[in-house]
Order: sequence, then structure tokens, then C-alpha cells
Amino acid sequence: VLLHEDGLDPAQFAHELKAYPIRFFYGVPNSQNPSGVTYSEQRRKDIAELLRDKETLLIEDDAYGELNFAGKSLPSFRQYLPEQTIITGSFSKILAPGIRMGWVVAPPAVMEQLVIAKQASDLHSNYLSQRIAYEYLAHEDFDAKIRIIQARYKAQAEQMVSLMKELMPASVRFTTPQGGMFVWVTLPEGISSMEVFERALKEDVAVLPGTPFYTDGGGKNTLRINFSNSTPEKIRVGIERLARVIRDMPRS
Ligand SMILES: Cc1ncc(COP(=O)(O)O)c(C=O)c1O
Repeated sequence: VLLHEDGLDPAQFAHELKAYPIRFFYGVPNSQNPSGVTYSEQRRKDIAELLRDKETLLIEDDAYGELNFAGKSLPSFRQYLPEQTIITGSFSKILAPGIRMGWVVAPPAVMEQLVIAKQASDLHSNYLSQRIAYEYLAHEDFDAKIRIIQARYKAQAEQMVSLMKELMPASVRFTTPQGGMFVWVTLPEGISSMEVFERALKEDVAVLPGTPFYTDGGGKNTLRINFSNSTPEKIRVGIERLARVIRDMPRS
């Protein structure tokens, strides 16, 4: 279903729900990967209304919920559809990238089935990672750590966006993130982000072409850049080089 700047397209979603017996809907309502889109409160209500009293489960992948630095978090779908919503969260973005440990919030009947499915698939997540997450949660001030991450990411995102405004050609469009880790960039039609990727890499700048995120092979002029893992100095150098690469790109 099409994703707009304020979330899923409700008319198209209504159409799909009528056309197919949809058993579950999966979405990333907060700082979606890769676009950074956060569904507005109105869009959340629209989607919840369309799913109310249907047999469709809604999976709210909230891997980026804690990385919202806009200061205002929006309601989970669980608030509107408590019996149909499953929330998944991750420690990978807030504790350590490699930990690959997460959590699930689900209605009791679903949770019972999930536990059985998890046991059938891998018995349990690896004990060492679980223990590390447990010790951290039990003994550290996790909320304080999250606030530090939010403040850093906010500053890094602001720096990246302000440099992009200064240095990118006017025909390049990009988002102003309110959370998450990414700026989503749309290049002028006819500029291949795959080629930008190859040229930027030669300058030691890594960007992610957008096409693999599209189900229909589209997005050839889109790319995702990451502000979470760079120092202010690296962000400056990276954006300067990327702007130069884009400016020098031949148009097809
Ligand atoms: C939307 C989304 N959900 C989940 C994950 C993965 O989280 P984990 O590391 O816990 O598997 C990612 C990671 O990139 C993500 O972007």
C-alpha cells in the first residue's frame, strides 16, 4: 500500500481490505525504515477504523519508537485496537546494534501461540544476549541512555539536514527526520542512485540506493543516508563529497 508523508494511503488500504482476505497487516508507524515516515494521528485512526471488528491482526513494528527526538510520541495502534495489535520492539537500536534481541506485546491469546511458534522455530533466543539485556535493564538507567541517544541523533540529523540545504543542488529533495536514523533523499528523475552509490563509495561515502525497498522496482532515483553513526566532522565531509558526486552526475 502506498506510503505518503503522513502514513499509509487509507483509500488504497480500504480497497485492498475489500479485495483480499487479509489476515495481518504489517507496518512501521514510527520513523519507518527507510523513508523515516511517521504516521500522523489521523492516519492511525483511519487505519484502526478500517480494521475494527475485522479478523485482521495488525503488527506494529516499533523498532524506532524510542528514537523519536521530536518530543511528541503518537499513540500506538494498541490504543485503538487492543485485541488486534501486536507490537514488536528491538534492543538493537538502543542497547547495541549486534544484540538482535527484541520484545513483543500481544493480546494473551496471540501471545500463547507466539510462544509455541518461537519454541518450534529456535527453542529460545540465545541466553547470553538475553542475560545482557536483562542485566542492563535491571541495573542501568535505560531511560537516561535513551535520552542521550535521542539528543545525539537530533543534533546529528539537524546538522546533516542543514548541510544538505546548504550544499545539495536545489533539485534534490530530502526529509527532515523527527526520529530514527535516516534521511530519505529523492534525486531528480533520470539520476540513478545506484550510480551515485558507486561513485560515492570511491570517495569513501556509503549511501543506500532506495530500489531494494520498493516492491515494484521503482525508486531508482531515491537513496537512504544514515546520520546515527557519524561524528559531526564525518557528516560534514560526507555531505560535501556526496553533494559533489550528485552535482557531477550525468543525466540519462
Ligand atoms: C523496521 C525494523 N524492524 C526491525 C529491525 C530489526 O531489529 P533486530 O535487530 O531486533 O532484528 C530493523 C533493523 O534494521 C528495522 O529497520
